[in-house]
Amino acid sequence: MTHNELILRLDQIGVENPSEEAFLILNHLFGTTKAQILFDREKSYSSEKIEPILEQRQKKTPLQYIFGKWYFMDLELFVSPDCLIPRPDTEILVYEALRLLKGGGCVADLCTGSGCIGLSILSARPDIEKMVLADISSGALAIATKNAREHSLDSRCEIVQIDITQKMPSGYFDMIVSNPPYIPSADVLTLSDEVKKEPTLALDGGADGLDIIRALLALAPNALNENGYLLIEFGFDQAESICQIMDALVADKVYRSYKILKDYGANDRVLVCQK
Ligand SMILES: C[S@@+](CC[C@H](N)C(=O)[O-])C[C@H]1O[C@@H](n2cnc3c(N)ncnc32)[C@H](O)[C@@H]1O
Repeated sequence: MTHNELILRLDQIGVENPSEEAFLILNHLFGTTKAQILFDREKSYSSEKIEPILEQRQKKTPLQYIFGKWYFMDLELFVSPDCLIPRPDTEILVYEALRLLKGGGCVADLCTGSGCIGLSILSARPDIEKMVLADISSGALAIATKNAREHSLDSRCEIVQIDITQKMPSGYFDMIVSNPPYIPSADVLTLSDEVKKEPTLALDGGADGLDIIRALLALAPNALNENGYLLIEFGFDQAESICQIMDALVADKVYRSYKILKDYGANDRVLVCQK
């Protein structure tokens, strides 16, 4: 099968970006670079190896789950249907965390999934002493554990299975970071077939999408050191509700201040608050 034939097949299946996917598939299977593929357009690649991937794409399995890995910040991470596929917009939260962390200390990544946020911080910052990676899902924690070992970050990680709507992991943290589920339950049903292959537990944030965020905002101060930071990712249309909640919490002196950061698409995306 040539590169062009593969693009055509992916287009027939209805994938969103057939030419980009064709490159990713050929790179994954044969190690070819984009330049090599474009230089030798008539080259024929083994259909035997490509067909099983096309079969799974036909069933709307995301490419990331087929490959079993994906990329976030500087890390190549294992992913499986037990964890959310890391998204580029989440990098905004990581950049801000790296900017705010002054040196040393302990951090908790709550709702860690693949571990992408916590492990990226640890990987960039050898000075961080401990990172708690916490999730309610044992399947997600198995992937986070594997990723921590793969990048030799496990000696600074503590893996904790916990429902963060009930309590925080034990200890005191200089920073808590989280990308919790924040899609309203009714909207989860309308997501694309591909996104629906991701765990519902990673997507569904309750009636208005803010159930876990509200719990986090209420419980996190008990686990934060004085002046500690809490960074939470939220949905593109949730800033108004988040600001209402935060204005009340700042008035009650639960937090001293907060601000909102935008993502790569200029949508409000990350809440940064300080105890
Ligand atoms: C949106 S995913 C984020 C995963 C990862 N941090 C990322 O950015 O790709 C949310 C994660 O929260 C976990 N989760 C859902 N409800 C939870 C709860 N009550 N307590 C702890 N973790 C929870 C899910 O299992 C899922 O791994």
